[in-house]
Amino acid sequence: MSDNETAVGIGPTGVPLEAVPESDTEVCSREGHLAASQEALLRADEVTAGYLPGVSILNGTDLYANEGELVGIIGPNGAGKSTLLKAMFGLVGVTAGKVTLRGEDITNRRAHQLVPLGVGFVPQTNNVFATLTVEENLEMGVFLRPKAFRARFDFVTDLFPILGERRAQRAGSLSGGERQMVAMGRALMMEPTVLLLDEPSAGLSPAMQDEVFFNTKQINQTGVTVVMVEQNARRCLQICDRGYVLDQGRSAYTGPGESLIDDPKVVELYLGTLGRAR
Ligand SMILES: Nc1ncnc2c1ncn2[C@@H]1O[C@H](COP(=O)(O)OP(=O)(O)O)[C@@H](O)[C@H]1O
Ligand SMILES: [Mg+2]
Repeated sequence: MSDNETAVGIGPTGVPLEAVPESDTEVCSREGHLAASQEALLRADEVTAGYLPGVSILNGTDLYANEGELVGIIGPNGAGKSTLLKAMFGLVGVTAGKVTLRGEDITNRRAHQLVPLGVGFVPQTNNVFATLTVEENLEMGVFLRPKAFRARFDFVTDLFPILGERRAQRAGSLSGGERQMVAMGRALMMEPTVLLLDEPSAGLSPAMQDEVFFNTKQINQTGVTVVMVEQNARRCLQICDRGYVLDQGRSAYTGPGESLIDDPKVVELYLGTLGRAR
């Protein structure tokens, strides 16, 4: 590695960044993050987290979401995308760094403390109660504020009319796409200001995937800030305002969704065949 290469920056896989054309995407830096995240609704600052003592999965990750933004997180399998959502939602211990919501330190607050503060989370799997009906699933979502049920149920079934039609049906008998709507609907019952979604399109048919991306955009358009992890990188970047590419437990690149899709270094390094195929 020459001094010259060091000066212009080296990508996470050692590719000199000078080798690719200019774009609106940025290599994530502390300075860039601090300058841009001052007004953020939700922030992760230099978050280190993991499952086992002494083994960090996140290694100083920075991320922010402004009010009303739809933020996408993409990256290779095992990069730590789910861990990052879980760390922000109090499901994985943060050993260093900070998570803030509207400037308030919420690091290591537990999930049940975060829900009343307006944070919602939809995990990738096991996100509905299969033996309960659609309506009962939505009731579970609002158990902290039972009086709000009627208004929130109307809100959710306006967004997802099929859930109104299927309200008496057991969630386990629904299609994968419908179950995903129940899961999102349940999180929306608490009227979150920010919704964390982990791979909502995973395992769905292409048509249902389209529907999930459409639904996510719709939720965001009602004013809910969304932070979405996706393996379907291209579709995610198409709908999000801003994206992050996570690599080995750190935010590697960020920028507007559309610029990340077109950025040769992101396509080559992270979207790989997935990026070229579509
Ligand atoms: N419950 C867990 N216990 C121990 N290690 C885990 C657990 N969940 C994930 N990991 C490890 O953390 C790393 C990142 O996983 P994850 O955040 O799920 O990645 P991604 O969502 O980007 O695919 C992987 O190496 C994975 O094996
Ligand atoms: Mg994951």
